[in-house]
Amino acid sequence: MLFTNPAFNTHESVHFVSDAGSGLRAIIAVHSTALGPAIGGCRMWQYASEDDALRDALRLSRGMSLKNAMADLPFGGGKSVILGNPAQCKSPALLAAFGRAIEKLGGVYITAEDVGISVSDMVMVAANTRFVCGLPQHRGSVAAGGDPSPRTAHGVFCGIAAAVRHQLKRDDLVGLRVAVQGLGKVGFDLCRELYAAGARLVVADLDAQIVERARDEFAADSVAIGQILYEPVDVLAPCALGAVLNSTTIPRLNTHIVAGAANNQLDTVADGWLLQKHGILYAPDYVINAGGIINAAAEYLASIADDEVRRRVERIGDTLSYIFDRAQHSDRPTSVIADEIALSRLQAASEQTHTAHAA
Ligand code: NAI
Repeated sequence: MLFTNPAFNTHESVHFVSDAGSGLRAIIAVHSTALGPAIGGCRMWQYASEDDALRDALRLSRGMSLKNAMADLPFGGGKSVILGNPAQCKSPALLAAFGRAIEKLGGVYITAEDVGISVSDMVMVAANTRFVCGLPQHRGSVAAGGDPSPRTAHGVFCGIAAAVRHQLKRDDLVGLRVAVQGLGKVGFDLCRELYAAGARLVVADLDAQIVERARDEFAADSVAIGQILYEPVDVLAPCALGAVLNSTTIPRLNTHIVAGAANNQLDTVADGWLLQKHGILYAPDYVINAGGIINAAAEYLASIADDEVRRRVERIGDTLSYIFDRAQHSDRPTSVIADEIALSRLQAASEQTHTAHAA
């Protein structure tokens, strides 16, 4: 059921798509177009059930509305999920059918890559729709484009610097100990920037080879997967999974700051309050990890120079400083403040749209 689904939250439309020939089964969720067409990645995943896939699409698309509003982008929030194991079910025909489905929506939703979908997959999607970004950087004359992960990593780095300024009253990261959970596309690049800034790293990943590379290239210490969250550090940067911050893990954290790329880090809203109670400064995930969507949006708009995109990504630090100050003055969690700001922007935009339609 859609309207009674706990993850349903005033979504504007949800599209169920299938294509018998290619085996495509996808859900495209458009949460809000109040600020502009809904932009957000396409995730391909072998969900345990269709309900799980729907829940993910609903939750992620709402998250994109908040993220895009907070990043001041002229885009609303949407997300698509393709049901199936990407290693087994992905094919050119399936990606083409997905592209055709996006095209039929007429631009209400713009897609990009996400978990299970690569830049080269997006090229196949783009052969069938105009409403796509995350294409290779050499296309056309616009510099932004391609894998957004380096920009996400840079935004997280700027966010960590802002959190350190606020919480530790320090203008540099020299000698600070930072734990990075997950050394994937974002985590590894983040380590590079942190190391260059003089931070000492402790890392963990399921992939022993990537851990070895981090040890070699960044003089990182490594710990077991189960230990990384609880390392005594100045900053913990979750860059792997969601829901790592919950009522079990938070009391055991040994850090002053949590600031990382992973989406949906808080298990529940209450966990934001719990972090505050433990005196841990939390950089809300959808604010600090917006670098990738800022890059993708610039690519789509095709009118923003690359150094301007970089400046916009770096403004993530200023946005976080503002949130940290407001949270401190009102004695409320940073996660609550971020939601409040993003939701009020969405509300104002939809009121404006209604007024314009009524006039
Ligand atoms: P990725 O898939 O390239 O990397 C994730 C890494 O985490 C992998 O190396 C994996 O082995 C590791 N990992 C998985 N479970 C782990 C565990 N229990 N302990 C330690 N390591 C574990 O993903 P990517 O692109 O680096 O993204 C990381 C996070 O940031 C994800 O939550 C993603 O949704 C989020 N994010 C990524 C963006 C991007 O531009 N790539 C943009 C915004 C958010």
